[in-house]
Amino acid sequence: MPNTKVNLKVLIQQATPINNFYMYNQKVKFDYDVSKFVDCEYPNASSCVKHQIHELTDIHDQYGGFPKTYTLENTTIHQRWWNKNEIDFDEIGSLLNMQVVTVSSIKQPPGQVVPWHRDTFFLLKKEFPNRQQPVRALIMLEDWKVGHFIQHDNAVFTHWSAGDGYIWDEDILHLGANAGMEHKYTLQVSGFIN
Ligand SMILES: [Fe+2]
Repeated sequence: MPNTKVNLKVLIQQATPINNFYMYNQKVKFDYDVSKFVDCEYPNASSCVKHQIHELTDIHDQYGGFPKTYTLENTTIHQRWWNKNEIDFDEIGSLLNMQVVTVSSIKQPPGQVVPWHRDTFFLLKKEFPNRQQPVRALIMLEDWKVGHFIQHDNAVFTHWSAGDGYIWDEDILHLGANAGMEHKYTLQVSGFIN
C-alpha cells in the first residue's frame, strides 16, 4: 500500500509557489539547425565554478562545503556567446516560447564536470531587476554520446536527440558531466517565458 502521508507531502511541495511563481521545469524540443553551434570556433577554457564557490554556499553547506577535489582542471568549459548579428534571437524565442536575452553555447571536453548548482541569472537580474522568474533553456546540440549526462533534481537525462532539452528557473538544481570519449555541446538560452 502506498505511503499516502509521504505522497501528500511531495504533492504539496510540488504545488507550492515560491514568490507566487511555480518552479519551472519544462521539457522542450528545439526544432532548429543547431549544427552551427557545434561547428564554430570556441574560446579558450574557463572554469564554471569560479562564481559557484561564492554564490551557492547554501547548496554546498548541506554537504559540508564545496568539495576541494573540484579544480580548474576538472571543471573546464569552453563558452561562446552569440549576438543578434549572428543569430535571430526572435526566431529562437518563438521556437522556445521565450523572450530571449542571452544565448551561449558550451563545449565540455571529456573528463569535465559542471557540479551541482542552480542558475543564478546574474546578468538578467541586473538588466531586468523588476522582472520575475528568469529561465534558461538547456538544449543538447548533438545526439547523445556515451558518458554524457545531465541531472536535474532526482532525474538523470541521457539518450537525448539533438534539439532535446529543458527550460528551468532558478529553483531547479542540476549538473552536467562528460564522462565520455567526445566533447559534449549544449546551448544555453536565457530570458523569460512569454
Ligand atoms: Fe546551469
